[in-house]
Amino acid sequence: MGINKITVVGGGNTGITTAFLLTVKNLGDIVVIDLPHIADVVKGKALDIWEAAPLLSSGSRVVGTGDYRDTADSDLVIITAGLPRKPGMTRNDLVKANAEIIRDVVTQTVKYSPEAVILILTNPVEIITQLARQYSGLPRLRVLGQAGVLDGARFRAFAAAELNVKAEDVTTLVLGVHGDDMLPLTRLSTVGSVPLETLLPSERLTEIVRRTKGGGAEIVNLLGSGSAYFAPAAALTAMASSILLNENRLFAAVACLDGEYGYKDVALNLPVILGRNGIEKIVDLPLTPPEKEVLDRSVSEVKAILAAYA
Ligand code: 2OP
Repeated sequence: MGINKITVVGGGNTGITTAFLLTVKNLGDIVVIDLPHIADVVKGKALDIWEAAPLLSSGSRVVGTGDYRDTADSDLVIITAGLPRKPGMTRNDLVKANAEIIRDVVTQTVKYSPEAVILILTNPVEIITQLARQYSGLPRLRVLGQAGVLDGARFRAFAAAELNVKAEDVTTLVLGVHGDDMLPLTRLSTVGSVPLETLLPSERLTEIVRRTKGGGAEIVNLLGSGSAYFAPAAALTAMASSILLNENRLFAAVACLDGEYGYKDVALNLPVILGRNGIEKIVDLPLTPPEKEVLDRSVSEVKAILAAYA
């Protein structure tokens, strides 16, 4: 197997930051693509990253383009294209505009890289991932979305600060939708295997969960224009590493379901193993009835929105 080729679709803040982190991690050669009329800006930013590579002990070559032919034969295509939220909007307010963008992006992507794994960041991520799978015609476990890794990282950062422990030692699992109904499984969250529920008073844990759920909106409101991109890009990079290096790490990711957890024709954050084929396995985790109720409600909502695009 030669050097990996990674395409990042979308040369905005998230796409460019992702390209930079992929370079830092030396995960392969990188193409960043955006619309032809802004291709020069993307070419400039990609060139800037490439020129940093020698200083980062990285062999990655990085190019920008407006032409999908340059993305041919990618192993992994990371899609960050689409509109971000403005203050006051929910992620679902983006569905119409972003579904149209994704249809075009996915069609072009598959035309030039039929063997790629496709990793979606674009919101609302559960809906866009399911649509991308439909538009692509690819095997369902090769099209997946990012949300749980980011939400889990926010949870880890807040819990680590509260307890004054190393954030890396905090493990979390956030399932469900990337929105108000996300399901942080506090009962499984630990610091070095010790449950958070035994380390923190319940009202502090409740407050950390509340802040985690609103983590995206907190940043949207502070920025005034645009949304978070450093942590989303770091989440994409961790997932890209597990896929390209076949690390088989367990993450919460948006998987297109075909009966798992009792759901079909819908995409949702669940525990998965990520390797060279994308989702290698959807892990079956027993849930309590209240947890299952949250997922049931989310699936109904996502399906209602998807029905409009069938
Ligand atoms: C977030 O939560 C962009 O949805 C992303 O920040």
